[in-house]
Amino acid sequence: MKNTKRLTGRVTIFFALIPTAILTGCGGAFISNQQQQPPPSTDPDARADAMLARMTQKQKLQLVMGGVTSNLTYGYTVPRGAGGWVPGIPSLGIPALYLADGSVGVDAGVGQATVLPSAIANAASWDLNEATKYGTVIGTELTDYGINVNLGGNVNLTGREPRDGRTFETKGEDPILAGKINAAHISAIQAQHIIGMMKHFSFNDQESGRATANVVIDERGGRESDLLAFEISVKDSNAQSVMCSYNLTNGVYNCENSHLLNDILKTDWSFPGFVMTDWWAVTDTVAGPNAGLDQEQPNQLYFSSLGAAIASGAVPQSRLDNMVHRILRAMYAAGLFDYPQTIQPIPAAADAAIAQEIEETGAVLLKNSASQLPLNAASMQSIAVIGSHADTWVLSGGGSAQVDPVGGGIHGPQPCPPCWATVTWVPSSPMHAIQALAPNAHLQYADGSDADAAANLAASAQVAIVFVNNWGSEGMDQTTLGLTDYVDTTPINQDALVSAVAAANPHTIVVIESDGPVLMPWLSQVSAVLEAWFPGQNGGPAIANLLFGVVNPSGKLPITFPASDAQLPRPVIPQPPDDITPFDVNYIESYNVGYKWFDSQGLTPLFPFGFGLSYTTFSITNASLTNNLSSASNPNLQVSFTLANTGAVAGSEVAQVYLGLPASLNEPPRRLVGWQKVPLQPGASQSVTIEVDENDSSHPLSYWDTGSNAWTLGAGTYTVYLGDADNAATLQTVGTFTVTP
Ligand code: BGC
Repeated sequence: MKNTKRLTGRVTIFFALIPTAILTGCGGAFISNQQQQPPPSTDPDARADAMLARMTQKQKLQLVMGGVTSNLTYGYTVPRGAGGWVPGIPSLGIPALYLADGSVGVDAGVGQATVLPSAIANAASWDLNEATKYGTVIGTELTDYGINVNLGGNVNLTGREPRDGRTFETKGEDPILAGKINAAHISAIQAQHIIGMMKHFSFNDQESGRATANVVIDERGGRESDLLAFEISVKDSNAQSVMCSYNLTNGVYNCENSHLLNDILKTDWSFPGFVMTDWWAVTDTVAGPNAGLDQEQPNQLYFSSLGAAIASGAVPQSRLDNMVHRILRAMYAAGLFDYPQTIQPIPAAADAAIAQEIEETGAVLLKNSASQLPLNAASMQSIAVIGSHADTWVLSGGGSAQVDPVGGGIHGPQPCPPCWATVTWVPSSPMHAIQALAPNAHLQYADGSDADAAANLAASAQVAIVFVNNWGSEGMDQTTLGLTDYVDTTPINQDALVSAVAAANPHTIVVIESDGPVLMPWLSQVSAVLEAWFPGQNGGPAIANLLFGVVNPSGKLPITFPASDAQLPRPVIPQPPDDITPFDVNYIESYNVGYKWFDSQGLTPLFPFGFGLSYTTFSITNASLTNNLSSASNPNLQVSFTLANTGAVAGSEVAQVYLGLPASLNEPPRRLVGWQKVPLQPGASQSVTIEVDENDSSHPLSYWDTGSNAWTLGAGTYTVYLGDADNAATLQTVGTFTVTP
């Protein structure tokens, strides 16, 4: 059953037991073979062809499937603790591939590593420099562990299904923001000479019945939403691998879907690298390769018969040659032949500091009545800290993206039978960090299991800081966006806990550690709310710095926070009838994902996409539009304005440019087409110009025309908007322009 996944125990060999010569890969055991390499060239295709010409059929077949020969779907053993492995061919100097997850840090099976804040927290920074740092941490640590293929780059658009248990791995709901952040991650990972990946291609937006869900979507809707996020990811990053997903699209399994793999990915987008299956996401020996699939992982359930399928003519020899060419060219392009890895300790302290910065730039301040925050350390005499193990740990996401934190994780009770993964807490104490910033305050902690005791503690303190959490993991979805009753030694109704504390103390601050959006029935009762996501290895100090204004919050929501489940396109997540029968998930919203759905339906969310407060205030003035669309070489729009920090402290604002297409095109009321994050000292202002290039991979001005099968600039009048400072949902019109037929 291909949706069965290993739980634990996959890793039975630790690198400490492996001789150094093997660990150093081509730097050690393969050195003599490197003399047999084709002459160095910058052309990975030419080098791949030269290598291919020297390979036997057996050697070719070895490269297109995982090295795991058992049929086990869990508990298998792979060198270096990797999730997958393709043995090298020493006689030709071809290094082995070691594949490991790494969406928010190095896969737990590989070894202890830096837990980065959720990928969605990084998207909330709206900052490609921060995204590059994020990818660099993952790439550096993978290479230090001797891993050379990263199974990261999750860019499924979660706004379609924000209850998806993998929301924390994604980059939110907007195809352009998600695509750009994902591309920055992949580029930074590949800069470490590791093959980067984007996944799960495509429309893998819910975990419920993920192996049998048949997504039904129209071509234009797909091209302008999930597929656009992938298109940007692959074009901007030059990603060398793609993972096809378990689910079906319009009736065809994605790993056998020629329209997705051959027509769109390899032809329209000119993707030169290779497509591998998600784990066991293959159902046939012939259909996948003929549809554009290049590698089966992690084992050889179907591809062990590929040689026979080629001999019989069912799969052409030219297809196998192309599969091998694509894998080899990815290895050359990423530098696997030219940059042998050195296994060494990860730079844990430096990377923890980056993890802290990522959290500080990605946390989103959602409410701050009467300037409750930042807390004034000098005047703090007593603070009640309540709930979510805030005395010792912060929460992390589960499943294949789980990282084993530096210092070891703490495993909590399962919140759901059946969960695949265990709840893992990261050793970083918000309470201790708060105490360090307010050394004179009397700090007390209540675990929240007794709401009355927590309320009594809150009543006796100057401020109460309640930590709530909503765990997320691969292999499960939430049934509701509401905070789940948190399972601990005693189950905790977290909504009731917040209300009880807020009733006892008018200065109640809520810190949310969640997979993604949550409902907040107590919102009007509390004075401040900070969305901290899963805050990573140094989550404690980062949260404390944000609460006390050592750092000014600057994150903006990359995903809409709905006011209820009923506002979603599918108020109830479609469920599979059984484990094998495909069932339809109708994407009635088409390209109207996330805020586009809310706009098109006239719905008011709890917090809109792009929203996030600061401890200072900003103004946007003198906005103007320059239309350079007639330029043949660089058709673009330029949106210019003055951004000023009108408050008393330094801060960063994200200016957001949206476009309304002509009504006749029936597009969403607005789409994000550009943004810039600008740091400003108090009283300072800056002239900003955001350029929107029509030739960019994001096709910002165009729609997908199914008649011509191409991105097309439609005729009619377009309107350019700037999101208001502090509330992107409030738009000011910058100008209009007309495209004539
Ligand atoms: C997940 C992938 C992951 C793979 C290997 C699958 O269950 O869907 O995202 O890369 O396992 O761990």
